[in-house]
Amino acid sequence: MMKRTRLAIVGCGGMSEVHTQRFFKLGDRLHVVACVDIIEERARAAAAMFPGAKAATDYRTVLDDVDAVLLVLPHHLHAPIGIDCLLAGKHVLLEKPMANTEQECLELIAASEKAGRVLMIAYCMRYHPLVVRMKELLDAKRYGEVFQVSIWTEQLTIYPPGHWAVKAETLGGGQFFSHGCHYIDILLWFLGRPVCGSHLGTNLGTPWMEREGTSNVTIQFESGALGYHFGTWGARGTRLGYSFHAHCTEGMLEARFTENKLIFHHGGKEEVLLETEPGKHTENEMAHFLDCIETGRRPLTDGPGSLQGLRVIWRLYEAEQKGVVADLRGLGLDEIDPQSLKPIRRSK
Ligand SMILES: NC(=O)c1ccc[n+]([C@@H]2O[C@H](COP(=O)([O-])OP(=O)(O)OC[C@H]3O[C@@H](n4cnc5c(N)ncnc54)[C@H](O)[C@@H]3O)[C@@H](O)[C@H]2O)c1
Repeated sequence: MMKRTRLAIVGCGGMSEVHTQRFFKLGDRLHVVACVDIIEERARAAAAMFPGAKAATDYRTVLDDVDAVLLVLPHHLHAPIGIDCLLAGKHVLLEKPMANTEQECLELIAASEKAGRVLMIAYCMRYHPLVVRMKELLDAKRYGEVFQVSIWTEQLTIYPPGHWAVKAETLGGGQFFSHGCHYIDILLWFLGRPVCGSHLGTNLGTPWMEREGTSNVTIQFESGALGYHFGTWGARGTRLGYSFHAHCTEGMLEARFTENKLIFHHGGKEEVLLETEPGKHTENEMAHFLDCIETGRRPLTDGPGSLQGLRVIWRLYEAEQKGVVADLRGLGLDEIDPQSLKPIRRSK
């Protein structure tokens, strides 16, 4: 049998439960040996799911026992704990968003390079079967040229007062930074390099949030295509739930997450192209992380790509404050001029 990757889960709150639900599917490749949370009962409850797993309250006490860590932590802890684990020689699967500042993201990327260990960002939507198929169909131009991708995420997410996720400093922004980062990442993946865009946010309807709880984002891409994202944590009701629409010159592709279906719309008809099991499919994301550890390949959702998405968000926030349209060119690490270290400006 192939050697199993020994993993510690650090942070055993809400999202860690989503990850662990489907780990049984990876039993022959993955061995959860420790669960860590500063709240001991959470660490114990998580460890109880894995025979022989240790429960701990300090991640440093388990690093000698593992090859890799899954970090499911408040955002302000992503960089310090992620860097510490990488420099201790551990592969890191880090929940999104990578970190709260540009500097911290660059330090995470540098630590992964220095240690020669995998740093992968847990953008689970990239590994969701409906999204993967949509990307394949768009790339193959199966239904012609794509000219508009719209992404809706409507949910009610209320955190108690004082929770790290309501404070701008620990969350790193509002719902757009925290949750919208998934969809900026998807729009860049589907549509390529961004040119310009705008974000408007409000916390009307989500008074528990220090910054916005609802966002509207529009981005124009080099191809001329447009991307749109509407995300809210204040939905008391919804019809669309989570839904991606890609308008192409021959019809519209819809990833309808409420029914776990990929649908092609054309001439008033609906054709179901794919149906999946419900859920976030984080087992595919973990399988990709294990592939990268086993083969040395670069993760699809690596540090540099994730940083580009966060730079887009920071630019959009800045432009919103100034009341201008954001210039989104030259924000990828592959677009930095190596001499001047300044972004390479491309003409439109
Ligand atoms: N991909 C997704 O769909 C998705 C959904 C929700 C959350 N997330 C991400 O998951 C991460 C965690 O979010 P959550 O909703 O689970 O938050 P949470 O508050 O429910 O859980 C965080 C846990 O970390 C623990 N913790 C805090 N400091 C710690 C430390 N120093 N060492 C060990 N444990 C510590 C807390 O006690 C808590 O149990 C965030 O990055 C968030 O953005 C991703």
